[in-house]
Amino acid sequence: MLIGVPLETATGETRVAVTPETAKKLVAQGHVVRVQSGAGVAASVTDAAYQAAGAEITDAAGAFGAEIVLKVRSPFDNEIALIKPGSVVIGMLNPFDAAGLQRLAAARLTAFALEAAPRTTRAQSMDVLSSQANIAGYKAVIVAADNYQRFFPMLMTAAGTVKAARVVILGVGVAGLQAIATAKRLGAVIEASDVRPSVKEQIESLGGKFIEVSYDTDEEKEAAVGVGGYAKPMPPSWLARQQVEVAKRVALADIVISTALIPGRAAPTLITEDMVKSMKPGSVIVDIAAGKGADGVGGNCPLSEADKTVVKHGVTIVGETNLPALVAADASSLYARNVLDFLKLILPKEGGLKIDLEDDIVAACRMAQDGQVTKK
Ligand code: NAI
Repeated sequence: MLIGVPLETATGETRVAVTPETAKKLVAQGHVVRVQSGAGVAASVTDAAYQAAGAEITDAAGAFGAEIVLKVRSPFDNEIALIKPGSVVIGMLNPFDAAGLQRLAAARLTAFALEAAPRTTRAQSMDVLSSQANIAGYKAVIVAADNYQRFFPMLMTAAGTVKAARVVILGVGVAGLQAIATAKRLGAVIEASDVRPSVKEQIESLGGKFIEVSYDTDEEKEAAVGVGGYAKPMPPSWLARQQVEVAKRVALADIVISTALIPGRAAPTLITEDMVKSMKPGSVIVDIAAGKGADGVGGNCPLSEADKTVVKHGVTIVGETNLPALVAADASSLYARNVLDFLKLILPKEGGLKIDLEDDIVAACRMAQDGQVTKK
């Protein structure tokens, strides 16, 4: 098959969907890989490195004109116009963007959104949410440390002792767990909250403390189990108790990293303006959910602003929405391997393209085909 790899044009997007490592494997499988010139530059990959891996260098029309187009982000309208009807597009196409999916369908593209893969063992190697959230969790801590005017570790020096930073992590999925691990390596003292009590052991195994909130009713207990590994919205009664416990920790915290999300819904408000006011001057909040609050405003903290770092009530609030793009090389390496593993499901060894809807991963990721939105 002819596989195209365009340069990503979304603002701040530095990642690329194919690396020389994965290009080499695709070429070895008999495919032709055409990479748009400069597609890898922001991820520290030169055109020459792609050529050495057996790929051809082309322009935007060449990359979008392939039978299979491998993307990081959903293509813009001017890019969709370059893709031939019937071609396959694979990327993080945002399954919850109904209008975006409609545009892909209207262009008669066969579109696969990798974020929609089920959270199963077989799908793990192509789980882009995990591979990228892991990086976001790491980078959130690094960005927090960079904005914080004190040390993370406890230090005993001749000039006196420095206290360890207190870090509160809200939402302990993939990003939150990596944030705990990273903050721990830097020497911080960590407390973490999640609606799912099943994460308690994971937090403790990484050296953090779980912020306990009781589950008093059957409704609360049932919601806390979540669905498919994801959180479900919790009853207001539980959220009110959680807020009391979280507020106590946030007032004492130096750093808060919030990652709480519920798929397809607005991010829950966990750090209110009053809680921000209660924090010490110079404290830092990194809100990974920035831009995902109600109507796309705020995040886990209503004061966070998407893609901006602001100071409110003396607290620095980082609203970077694409933390993985700040670790472009490794984010691309992991993403490209996810894409390669997904391709194995639709590119059989004997050649050609096979879209087998009996395969639960293929069926879940398929967003559009034959002019129709086919999202499940
Ligand atoms: P996510 O990015 O959708 O959400 C982040 C975290 O926020 C979750 O832990 C969620 O429980 C939490 N959250 C939601 N509302 C909250 C609130 N009000 N207060 C505090 N926390 C709140 O989740 P992510 O990172 O995608 O992971 C979801 C789950 O899927 C995890 O349990 C993870 O271990 C599991 N998983 C399973 C895989 C597999 O079996 N193949 C692969 C990857 C993840």
